[in-house]
Amino acid sequence: MTGTPDEKPMKGLFIRTYGCQMNVYDSERIRDVLRPLGYAPVDSPESADLVVVNTCHIREKATEKVYSELGQLKRMKEASGGRMTIAVAGCVAQAEGEELIRRQPAVDLVLGPQAYHKLPEMIARASRAIGDRLETEFDTVEKFDALPKTREADGPAAFVSVQEGCDKFCTFCVVPYTRGAEMSRRVDDIVFETRSLASQGVREITLLGQNVNAFHGPAPVLEGGEDWRLGQLCRHLSKIGGIERIRYTTSHPRDMDDDLIAAHGDTPALMPFLHLPVQSGSDRILKAMNRGHTADHYRDIIARVRAARPDIAIASDFIVGFPGESDADFEATMQLVRDIGYAIAYSFKYSSRPGTPAAEMHGHLPESVKDERLQALQSLLRAQQTEFNASQIGKTLPVLVTGKGRNEGQMHGRSPYLQAVHFDGPETLNGQIVDVKIVGASLNSLTGELVRVTEAAL
Ligand code: SAH
Ligand code: SF4
Ligand code: F3S
Repeated sequence: MTGTPDEKPMKGLFIRTYGCQMNVYDSERIRDVLRPLGYAPVDSPESADLVVVNTCHIREKATEKVYSELGQLKRMKEASGGRMTIAVAGCVAQAEGEELIRRQPAVDLVLGPQAYHKLPEMIARASRAIGDRLETEFDTVEKFDALPKTREADGPAAFVSVQEGCDKFCTFCVVPYTRGAEMSRRVDDIVFETRSLASQGVREITLLGQNVNAFHGPAPVLEGGEDWRLGQLCRHLSKIGGIERIRYTTSHPRDMDDDLIAAHGDTPALMPFLHLPVQSGSDRILKAMNRGHTADHYRDIIARVRAARPDIAIASDFIVGFPGESDADFEATMQLVRDIGYAIAYSFKYSSRPGTPAAEMHGHLPESVKDERLQALQSLLRAQQTEFNASQIGKTLPVLVTGKGRNEGQMHGRSPYLQAVHFDGPETLNGQIVDVKIVGASLNSLTGELVRVTEAAL
């Protein structure tokens, strides 16, 4: 930042982010909102004037972490002579509100996920010790409208929020309560943000939403103004110069419409990777979870997606030990995993969340049963992931180079299937898409050799 005479002195900002990619995106936007106030990122909370803890409420452990982190920050704040301002943002802020300030009085500000644009105003209030320290109203439209339109890109891959909130009310989940109702962002704003990122060298965008494929909204007037869904949005964004790769996450089986499936076949920029959480393979449990689909319905969606894009990598989320889950129900989950064959999947032990319907259900399972099932499921998923990665050996993949690797002369990037790829190459390749021949694979990454680079790239 260059100093102009009327610019405010620089203040240190430290943001700690927990939870999902939406929180990662929100943290970037918080940075954007605070930049005009003279806040610049610092490397550690000790040297920060403002610390923002962007929290996650999804499982009990996630919430516990927040309180232990706040305890540490309190000690740092005391050591700083009270100079540090502590703000708690995100889903715990939304869920616990005043309770947070009561349990940890060192907290200066509490703001829910729809209130970031109000942060400057809240900081001003806090510094004068007046008024409310809490902002947890839901107003997604206002948030989308109030956030700065331009973004500062950080590397060749970026998130773009297109949808927020959830109306699905899965019985185990806090998200509908912490993020509010489903709401889509305006196409014009999404296009503007994507263009701004592309002009700064971004090649890959990941469209974000709690239920990203529930996205819908009127097309730009020049495009006819009809109601678009995610497939059409992806096709449109793929025409923006510089944008070579598009991904989206996280989607819901119920919103996986025919056009989006077709887009996987007709839009080369749409990357062959689909994260479609299923949670369980048992119809009885899916019903108790209020997922609104059966295991076979999910199998059918995957079959149709694979027909449209045969090489697509499939990812999912699973919960084991939902109340009432029997051995047979769990076995149905294992069978579904064997049937689908995942490239990667995230699995969790059911965690009872206050205020959700499942917390009140009968048949909560002992931790030991959940542990056992989680281990069995994860060992199957790890085997599938290893197998999927190994299946790339010998292929030449286009890799988006995202930075320097750990070893001297090494670069890393990501494959179309979202695998981490390490290879030897010059730093000048950063931000480009280059061909890499895959020669090795492990559970978490691939190694390869650079095949072909034009001289201009070097
Ligand atoms: N919107 C996405 C996921 C949101 S939360 C979807 O509908 O799939 C991310 C993942 O956390 C979920 O997919 C689920 O697997 C897990 N999760 C959510 N609530 C949970 C709970 N109470 N206990 C354990 N895992 C949970
Ligand atoms: Fe939670 Fe279900 Fe909504 Fe996903 S779809 S955010 S799991 S309520
Ligand atoms: Fe966590 Fe909120 Fe995301 S609860 S998973 S940060 S939507």
